[in-house]
Amino acid sequence: MKISIISLFPEVFPAYLNSSILGRAQEKGLVEVEYVALRNFGKGAHRSVDDRPFGGGKGQVIQCEPVLKAIRSIRKEDSQVYLLAPSGCLFKQKKAHEMAQCSHLILLCGHYEGFDYRIEEYCDGILSIGDYVLSGGELAAMVITDAVVRLLPGVISEGSTEEESFENGLLEYPQYTQPAIFEGKEVPEVLRSGNHAKIHAYRQEQSLLRTKKMRPDLYQDYQKRE
Ligand code: ADE
Repeated sequence: MKISIISLFPEVFPAYLNSSILGRAQEKGLVEVEYVALRNFGKGAHRSVDDRPFGGGKGQVIQCEPVLKAIRSIRKEDSQVYLLAPSGCLFKQKKAHEMAQCSHLILLCGHYEGFDYRIEEYCDGILSIGDYVLSGGELAAMVITDAVVRLLPGVISEGSTEEESFENGLLEYPQYTQPAIFEGKEVPEVLRSGNHAKIHAYRQEQSLLRTKKMRPDLYQDYQKRE
């Protein structure tokens, strides 16, 4: 898979995306991450990419031309282009699985007051990572890249993503490690029993209880499906 990130600030990505699991995935050749500087497609001596909004209002809006030039410089027949904006559909684990099937993802990061609306017509989807406004799409691009790449075959050892939060519509059960007692807080007896059927049942129950407490919205959806 290849992921191309179009941004006005391409220098912010490598520190995170070249580390840990994502760094190793690139070294192993499981994913290629490319940064495309939107500024290179800007106009004039200042490589300008934005202008004032029609109808008035605060801030600047990113123009169609530089964005389309940037997309067209890298788009292939099988590319999927996603614009990152707080006004998009909420990005969830299901979408991460869907995107992990693509051979080329293009993630378009906005800044200022947003993009000229007409740019949306050239995209396959608009994604938001949550109900809050960030200064730009760069963090969203990193979040999406991380969530997608860890699902690619070979990136994480087989089976270890399957019991994570959201994979079955529930949050993950609590995990414990040594010591068995820390400052008087004891690891549940059942987890030290060696009885795998009981451990499985306990974890399933904890997963349900935690989801009910932390995410009643997910719990309700889960109950409807069961
Ligand atoms: N850009 C600004 N805020 C954002 C958000 N919540 N999700 C995606 N891109 C954004």
